[in-house]
Amino acid sequence: MEQIRTVSWMKEAARQARADHQVVGLVPTMGALHEGHLSLVRRAKQECSRVFVSLFVNPKQFGPREDLAKYPRSLESDTRKLEAEGVDLLFAPGPEEIYPPGFSTYVSVEGWSERLEGRTRPGHFRGVATVVAKLFQIVQPEFAYFGRKDAQQARLIEQIVRDLDLDVRTVVCDIVRESDGLALSSRNAYLDREERRAATVLYRGLAEAAREIAAGERGALEIRETVCRVLAREKLARVDYVEVVDAGSFAPVARLGGGPAYVLLAVYFGTTRLIDNLLVQPDPGSDRLSVSL
Ligand code: PAJ
Repeated sequence: MEQIRTVSWMKEAARQARADHQVVGLVPTMGALHEGHLSLVRRAKQECSRVFVSLFVNPKQFGPREDLAKYPRSLESDTRKLEAEGVDLLFAPGPEEIYPPGFSTYVSVEGWSERLEGRTRPGHFRGVATVVAKLFQIVQPEFAYFGRKDAQQARLIEQIVRDLDLDVRTVVCDIVRESDGLALSSRNAYLDREERRAATVLYRGLAEAAREIAAGERGALEIRETVCRVLAREKLARVDYVEVVDAGSFAPVARLGGGPAYVLLAVYFGTTRLIDNLLVQPDPGSDRLSVSL
């Protein structure tokens, strides 16, 4: 696996891949890689002739009180995992490569910064949008892979691609979970034993919502209440938000059935904030809804 740390070398490698008529897939990550990240890599391997992974703990998407300094870093084991998956190239620049002195241009997607993740984490989406736009510009991939675990982030990136006419197709992959339902996340490492046990309540809450939807419930208020009721049974869980939103606009919906929608949640366990979601989609040719956890 080729390893590159500078923007200029990365651009050169990208140019070479295009000259060789390779179909490049990019998987942007912040490292501390787990099976969720590797599922994106595997999907990219299926669809592309070259798979590039970026590993950059992006300081601009962390708030002043967030976990930039203690964010897990494990370049050596990450490298081994990516090599085992047959990744062609790892782009792991330092912060000064991506944000040299004097850096002052940002991408901010209007509206997105005021809702849900954007409301709790001011500046977060501006940081994500800026770094992803830069990564697309540097690597010029044909495909880029993101996880539905961060549903609002994935939608934000689709918006950037659309609004800025970027020549990249984004692919959103399913959520990879532990056997007890907890969505894999680098931040799960912060949970102590009690919090880790408690965190399964996210899955249990969403699974209960999924059962109600399958049984015919369509009211967003009722679904929200169901999830909140399950969460309330877990003393260590402190809810940030539970929302039922349209999958396109991320605006709240009153009823399911009008198009794809998400049941989204963000919950604190101690100081660790976890997110998860349930995707609800109309079943073509019937009035049933299919749910994906
Ligand atoms: P990071 O948290 O490292 O996640 C990288 C990618 O892995 C994201 O697209 C995320 O949605 C996906 N992912 C994480 N957990 C997953 C799971 N359990 N199942 C499936 N996919 C999962 O998200 C970021 O980094 C950054 O914001 C980034 C996009 C790299 C920009 O800095």
